[in-house]
Amino acid sequence: MAAIAIYSLKGGVGKTSMAVNLAWCAASLCARRTLLWDLDPQAASTWLLGGPAHGDQAQAVFSRDISADRLVRQTDIPRLSLIGADDSLRGLDHLFHAIDKKKRLGKLIDGLDDYERIILDCPPGLTETTEQMLRAADLIVVPVVPSALATRALEVVDGHVRGRVPLLPVHVMVDRRRRLHAEALAAHPDWPVIPMASLVEAMGEHRAPLGAFAPRSSAAQAYADLWRSVERRLAGG
Ligand SMILES: Nc1ncnc2c1ncn2[C@@H]1O[C@H](COP(=O)(O)OP(=O)(O)OP(=O)(O)O)[C@@H](O)[C@H]1O
Ligand SMILES: [Mg+2]
Repeated sequence: MAAIAIYSLKGGVGKTSMAVNLAWCAASLCARRTLLWDLDPQAASTWLLGGPAHGDQAQAVFSRDISADRLVRQTDIPRLSLIGADDSLRGLDHLFHAIDKKKRLGKLIDGLDDYERIILDCPPGLTETTEQMLRAADLIVVPVVPSALATRALEVVDGHVRGRVPLLPVHVMVDRRRRLHAEALAAHPDWPVIPMASLVEAMGEHRAPLGAFAPRSSAAQAYADLWRSVERRLAGG
């Protein structure tokens, strides 16, 4: 089993879109038993996958008042399950601080041993939830919109992680016609690329991953390529 966190210091950079599409790739293209765990109280990936399925119990898993298994629900996509988020997660940082169990998320993930791939949709920021994620993840995928500020945010994260977990930066929302974007891609030719694509925004209308309604689009192909890069990194490549 491997836990893959989709994380960025910055908000609105495409984490949730990436988490949902990569979860689809893991489950559908690679036939992995996959769990998407939505750790963000915005519950955006939960909503995109047809949730929420429960009221306000998402945080109770972390205080061990209910078991994680009880919140897992199967999605419409074969082999893809979800632990949804809800409003209660607004108190998650506070809870992590109060319980003082630095590996609580990691231990909960270890208990979910039915799954081969667990994908974490993380909230932005450098918070207690981030610290928990850093101790739980095998790989952190970081969406980076080509810009100086985003590069700086990545450096901040890199400095904070200090090599504890491998990072896979990914250029996202890329428009190759823009000079800054072209230069950023040239500076990091080895980073995977997700293009700017209106189909990604259309996921909100379909409430589904790209693979479910536009599997042959270049954006869907880009996420599939990214997933292959993730698998290679997990295999030590
Ligand atoms: N490659 C893309 N091309 C075009 N639009 C995109 C792309 N990726 C994401 N978006 C759009 O950008 C917005 C933010 O995306 P998303 O919710 O995935 O980001 P996020 O990092 O999870 O945000 P938050 O920090 O609020 O959780 C959404 O409207 C989404 O549809
Ligand atoms: Mg999000």
